[in-house]
Order: sequence, then structure tokens, then C-alpha cells
Amino acid sequence: MMNEAIPNLTAFDEAALDKAFASLEAQARESAAALDVEAFRLKWLGRKQGLLNEVSDGWLKAAPGPAKKAVGQRFKVLKELVEALLEGAGPTEAAADAALRAEAIDISLPGTRRLTGSEHPITRTLNEIVSVFAALGYSVGVGPEVETDFYNFECMNFPPGHPARDTQDTLVVAAQERKPLRDRLLLRTHTSPVQMRTMEQQPPPVRIVIPGKVHRNDAADATHSPIFHQVEGLCVDTNITFSDLKGTLDHTMKALFGSAVKTRFFPSFFPFTEPSADVQISCIFCGGKGCRKCKQSGWIELLGCGMVDPAVFAFAAEKQSAYDPKKISGFAFGMGVERIAMMKYGISEIGSFFAGDMRFLGQFA
Ligand code: DAH
Repeated sequence: MMNEAIPNLTAFDEAALDKAFASLEAQARESAAALDVEAFRLKWLGRKQGLLNEVSDGWLKAAPGPAKKAVGQRFKVLKELVEALLEGAGPTEAAADAALRAEAIDISLPGTRRLTGSEHPITRTLNEIVSVFAALGYSVGVGPEVETDFYNFECMNFPPGHPARDTQDTLVVAAQERKPLRDRLLLRTHTSPVQMRTMEQQPPPVRIVIPGKVHRNDAADATHSPIFHQVEGLCVDTNITFSDLKGTLDHTMKALFGSAVKTRFFPSFFPFTEPSADVQISCIFCGGKGCRKCKQSGWIELLGCGMVDPAVFAFAAEKQSAYDPKKISGFAFGMGVERIAMMKYGISEIGSFFAGDMRFLGQFA
């Protein structure tokens, strides 16, 4: 069947052929201007229904013997024209062009908006803390979140049944009663066990910070979350003293909260340090005058620290004999990342960090 664009040829004289082919050439130019490259190719050069095929079947093959040559010459010219019109666009450009047109884009419509990702405020604070220590020459380590009773408690000088264990309400993995207590698994309640994992791996000197996630069986409220983050620190060398600890943490607090901040060290207790201290900073909200945030005291408690207890070194010395408390000394500290982030950014609900509300998180973009 003849395509409507290709009428039947009735006369084969030169003038009739010129006219018929001229009309096809005009059509080809028109469709080259109107169609994208791929559609044009299909319409004219398509293997089955392309117009050139139709002309070849309907005009050339059907032409009476004497007219074949005249039709053939003109067909060749038409074919070259179609190919020339098609040229000028590579295949990828052709495909892109086809895709663009297929979408029928209205360029006056607003575009598809992709949200820019940004660091979570906890990640950002954690990195900031770590980089203060990196600048002091500390390395960075990590340890497992599912820990054994031995690393989380026993080697950190919380013996079985010791009341200090009650200060860290622990989530334990179920059905392990058949294992010895020290091998039972729990979700680590602090990053301190990585102190021991580090010392077992390397002899002193050690200067390391350990950021990570910790878990406690605490009810959630404005300032408590059962999952939170800590940055642990450990420094062991010859002649490390409490004044090294004070200088290091005073510098860190000034780096994090501004050089006007003062620190003070308040006697405290942790099983794995002796002596132990809580570090307080002068209230960043009132400058130390006393306000609601610091309960009128002018000070805010921020982290725990102390000199590594010889009992902890004794556990480390089982694997690395260089941890001999007669020859070396060290300090350790541990800070809560959420608490520091809440202070820095004036956030009053710890839950905001974990709720996944984009209106909150977007403010840190
Ligand atoms: N592990 C303690 C806690 O989670 C924090 C801490 C206190 C870590 C004193 C230390 C330290 O390394 O010396 O409450």
C-alpha cells in the first residue's frame, strides 16, 4: 500500500518525475526541520516503513523499463539529500535530543529540587573534637559497639559485683548464662574499653582519641538518650602528670568554646582513674555570673578524666609488658558528644538529634 506521502506515479516523463521528486525533497527538508534526528531517521530511512523504502518499492521497482534510469538517478539524489540532512548530529546527541523532546519539557516550570546533604550536627561536633586532638598529635581509633563484660567492665577495674557497675545501666545480649561472665556480650556503655584494646595492640607511648556510639538502659528525657556518643582519650608515656591532663583539657575546652572559657577540675570517682576529676567549664551562657543554665553556679560540668589507675595498666601489661606503672604513667578522659553539641548550638532536647526532622537538621546545612 502506498504511503499517503508517496502518491502513485502515473507519468514517467522528465517533467513529471522532476515535479514528483521536487515535492519529496521539499518534504524531506521540512521534516528535517520539524523532527528530532531519531524521528527523522525513522521516518525517512526506517527499514520497514521509511519513506525511501516506499519510494524505492513504489516508484523505482514499479517503473516501466525505459523510465527506470531516470527514476533511479533522481532516487539517488533524494537519498543523498536525506542522508545529508541526517548528518551533523552524532548518535549520542541524537539520543539526548530525542529524550529531551520526548519529555516535552516546559522550561518555565520550576526544576526538580534536590536537597543538599549536610553533616549531622553530632558528626560535625565529633569531628571537631577529634580534630582538636589531631592537631596535638593524637591518632584516632575505634572499637566494637558490642563488647564483652571483660573489656567494658572488668579490665577497666569494675570487678564483678562492684557497685560502680550500677552507675552504668547496661543492655546485655540475652541467653549467655552458660558463658563465663567476662565473655558475655553487652552493648558498650562507654568508649573506655577501647583504651584497653589500644594498649593491648601497641606499647607506649600512646596518644589516641576514640569517638564512638555507646548504649545505656536509660529512660529518654530532655538530656538522656539510650544511644549517645562519646570521645574517649588516652595518653600514656613516661612522666605524664596531672598538669599535662589539665593543660590538654583546658586547651581543648578553649578550642571548642572560645578562649574566654575557664576550666576547673573537681574531685570525682571513676574506677579506672586515680585520682579522678570532673571537668567544669565557666558557663558559656552567662560568662560565669550565674544563670538558669548553670543553676546559678557559674560552672557547667562537661566531662570526666583522671590519671590511669595502676590496676588498668596491670591488665594491659598482661599483653604488653611495657605498661609497667613503675615506668610509665598516663591520663584518660571521656566526653559526651551530644552534651557538647547541645551547648555549642543551644539545643535543649537531646531527642532532636535522633528524630530525623529535616526542619531541625536543615539548620546545620
Ligand atoms: N567512661 C566514663 C563514662 O562513660 C567517662 C570517663 C571518665 C572516661 C573518666 C575516662 C575517664 O576516660 O578518665 O562515664
